[in-house]
Amino acid sequence: MSLEKVIDKKNTDLFKGVDMQKVPEHVAIIMDGNGRWATKKRLPRSFGHNKGVSVLKEILKVSKKIGCKVLTVYAFSTENWTRPTQEVDFLINLFGEVLKTEIEEIHQESIKIKFIGDLTPFPETLKEIIYSSESLTKNNNKFLLNVCVNYGGRQEIVKVAKELALKSSSGEIKPNEVNEELFNSELLKRGIKDPELLIRTSGEKRISNFLLWQLAYSEIYISDVLWPDFNEFEFLKAIIDYQSRNRRFGGIESLTNESFGDSQYSS
Ligand code: FPP
Repeated sequence: MSLEKVIDKKNTDLFKGVDMQKVPEHVAIIMDGNGRWATKKRLPRSFGHNKGVSVLKEILKVSKKIGCKVLTVYAFSTENWTRPTQEVDFLINLFGEVLKTEIEEIHQESIKIKFIGDLTPFPETLKEIIYSSESLTKNNNKFLLNVCVNYGGRQEIVKVAKELALKSSSGEIKPNEVNEELFNSELLKRGIKDPELLIRTSGEKRISNFLLWQLAYSEIYISDVLWPDFNEFEFLKAIIDYQSRNRRFGGIESLTNESFGDSQYSS
């Protein structure tokens, strides 16, 4: 069922519009607009981030419900350090607090949580909470939540290039053995399927250094809704929109010689 039909019918139960056979396995999300949401309401930006956490919980639930297997969210980019210290400190503290309060439920729901990015500059207390959360949930297999913190797509690619150069200079691999598969195996650690869908909220139409390698063929859905206002309904709209796309990966669907013009020009 097309999105227009679902919404035209004022069918608020968008679940009926989701084709359960075509649910993306991996969805990546740029959760954008927390600050603007708070500012619009004349609230400190921190309120937007707090609300953003509850939205993430809702989206995690609905993702699991429709049979999606992996969510990768952009929680803190390498560029976010340029924000005022107060906001950076707030976010760092928030990550720790969220983990402390939510990790039991995450574990009970058999969700595995992984942090992706360079954790080096974070305080030891946060690193400990992150490592213990990853360790507690490492054998969970119902769902994978990747949280990208101090993450940058270019930095990730450079890191892999360095690792492969080192392996090459030590003789572990030959330079001509470097290919997409090998490169991929070093990214995000151990071959998670690339996201079929990237959602960005707040109407911005940029990738902003997120998963540059992995998003090569992802469908992009831009929602005008600010992240703190995003919800199950908006997420299902994105899924239904994705399901209406014709994914060709650079090819042409059902290309025949005839459609290329062979019948006209061949002798
Ligand atoms: C973007 O809005 C949002 C962020 C930089 C932070 C998002 C973080 C969370 C929702 C917390 C997640 C926590 C865990 C542990 C997974 P913005 O501040 O860039 O908004 P703006 O563009 O309107 O200024």
